[in-house]
Amino acid sequence: MSNAAPVAQSRIYEFRTSSGAETIDLGRKLAGLLQPPQLLILRGDLGTGKTTLVKGIVQALDAAEPDEVTSPTFTLIHEYDGTLNGASVKLFHLDLYRLDSERQLESLGLDDLLTPDAIALVEWGEKFKSIRKKASGEIVIASESGDARRITVTLKEPSDPPPSHAANPIQ
Ligand SMILES: Nc1ncnc2c1ncn2[C@@H]1O[C@H](COP(=O)(O)OP(=O)(O)O)[C@@H](O)[C@H]1O
Ligand SMILES: [Mg+2]
Repeated sequence: MSNAAPVAQSRIYEFRTSSGAETIDLGRKLAGLLQPPQLLILRGDLGTGKTTLVKGIVQALDAAEPDEVTSPTFTLIHEYDGTLNGASVKLFHLDLYRLDSERQLESLGLDDLLTPDAIALVEWGEKFKSIRKKASGEIVIASESGDARRITVTLKEPSDPPPSHAANPIQ
């Protein structure tokens, strides 16, 4: 018998793009990995392409065209209504760069927004412990030389189910 705590498995995907347009294309493909309810942190320095990636994801959900997706820098949150695998989905795009405290974050009412049909993509979410706890994964964008970017997607699997004997009645 092992005393080790169950370790949640993760799926990790790595991509490279060499232009904004390629990152939008990648966003369209990554939409297929999404499954509400889900909160993902988008991590990377300013100008690496977090918002650019969201443009592709939003487009794949038939929620808006890339030109219509802008950074929620001042409004903090943008909401899109879309469709994923034939079901309605709400996509929330947040940018918490300008937020400093958990208290300010609370006033956004994020918990109420995260309904079963919701996906939240949160730029600068890693700044907040409460967001790190809620996140089921992250997308990290790193600048390489020039316009090249390395994009790493890590999706946590739900924890392993309890051992089968736990579900059986006592014999
Ligand atoms: N490979 C790339 N992927 C994403 N954006 C790129 C890439 N190469 C150049 N860019 C440009 O970098 C900028 C990224 O801006 P943005 O997506 O707003 O960044 P962030 O949201 O991370 O601050 C855009 O002007 C985009 O066209
Ligand atoms: Mg941005």
